[in-house]
Amino acid sequence: MFRRLKDCHNVEDFRLLAKQRLPGPVFHYIDGAADDEITYRRNTSAFEDCDLVPNVLAGVETVDMSVKVLGQTLDIPLFCSPTALQRLFHHDGERAVARAAAKFGTYFGVSSLSTVSLAEIGEMITTPKMFQFYFHKDRGLNDAMVDSAKAAGFNALALTVDTITGGNRERDLHTGFTTPPKLTARSLFSFAAHPAWAFHFLFGEKFELKELAGHVKEGSNLAISVGDYFSSMLDQSMDWSDAEALRARWDGPFCLKGVMSVEDAKRAIDIGATAIMVSNHGGRQLDGSRAPFDQVAELADAVGDQLEIILDGGVRRGTHVLKAMAAGATAVSGGRMYLYALAAAGQAGVERTLGNLRTEIERDMKLMGLKRLSDINAGMLRYR
Ligand SMILES: Cc1cc2nc3c(=O)[nH]c(=O)nc-3n(C[C@H](O)[C@H](O)[C@H](O)COP(=O)(O)O)c2cc1C
Repeated sequence: MFRRLKDCHNVEDFRLLAKQRLPGPVFHYIDGAADDEITYRRNTSAFEDCDLVPNVLAGVETVDMSVKVLGQTLDIPLFCSPTALQRLFHHDGERAVARAAAKFGTYFGVSSLSTVSLAEIGEMITTPKMFQFYFHKDRGLNDAMVDSAKAAGFNALALTVDTITGGNRERDLHTGFTTPPKLTARSLFSFAAHPAWAFHFLFGEKFELKELAGHVKEGSNLAISVGDYFSSMLDQSMDWSDAEALRARWDGPFCLKGVMSVEDAKRAIDIGATAIMVSNHGGRQLDGSRAPFDQVAELADAVGDQLEIILDGGVRRGTHVLKAMAAGATAVSGGRMYLYALAAAGQAGVERTLGNLRTEIERDMKLMGLKRLSDINAGMLRYR
């Protein structure tokens, strides 16, 4: 079936449109995950193992969807997790996501592997911005990234802690995906089948990892896989003392992205973290690891009074957001829920997917008898 933007009513619709619009290797880089993709599937299916128990007759003609997280008040409880290489998915890349997130009054997470500079994003939007930090072996690069994020007025820093080595993303091995894509006979065939994408990639603005350019050759045009990038460029000796030093260098709200155990969450409190993102990197790293929704209640019960808890990953519906918050999450974030839409239709796509999800959250709150999100509680969830 030939799909258009106006046919996209949910995340899966955007996924299918993205599949239609992108060369196969690029689509599978977004859509794929590690090993047998068991964790990736569980991240979403975990939400199906419990049910919401609504209250009625609650007078819900207006509902307040705002939440406070990482020092900012967001208009909706869902924000855009940091993701790499966005200009590969749509030529407007981070510019499109920044403007869409701004319209919805929510955090825009910007990756260390961004294809638009932090300075440009800082000038473009005044709404909340999170910088996602990868701890590189090159300390000069690390310092420069923190300085750029501060200078660009970023509100929060998230240190990713679940990419100490590259996950085994077998779809990328099958397709030969590298960044930037290599020009081989196979990739040229795939480009030819997607002329709109290929035109922008081949003749548009140069593809570059903006914060890395000038520090590492991977910042410009050497094609390597993302797994190889993690394994060769990031510092595998990173430990709690490095996280603490980074926290001290960053004087605003600070978050560890990829914390799953209660023990680590307690250490996050000890080093002064504001929040943790309960995440397995969208199933792209350790296959067989626990899903964020399966783990969030345990973390909220243990440390929820001392640490903000952001559930990251698997979210495809408004009810997933409400279930996460009922289980104890302060806020919720996701990657693919907006990346498919970016690939499908740029800024208009991201606005439509965030609009769909906002409408779902509002409708679901009304159907749950919730005037505000602070009224949601674990008693509204029943596990089967
Ligand atoms: C294509 C893609 C690129 C990503 N790039 C990054 C990144 O650069 N840094 C990071 O911390 N997480 C990255 N992530 C992980 C996301 O921040 C987030 O944890 C994940 O997408 C959540 O799962 P979901 O896609 O099911 O929402 C990436 C995810 C995807 C799908």
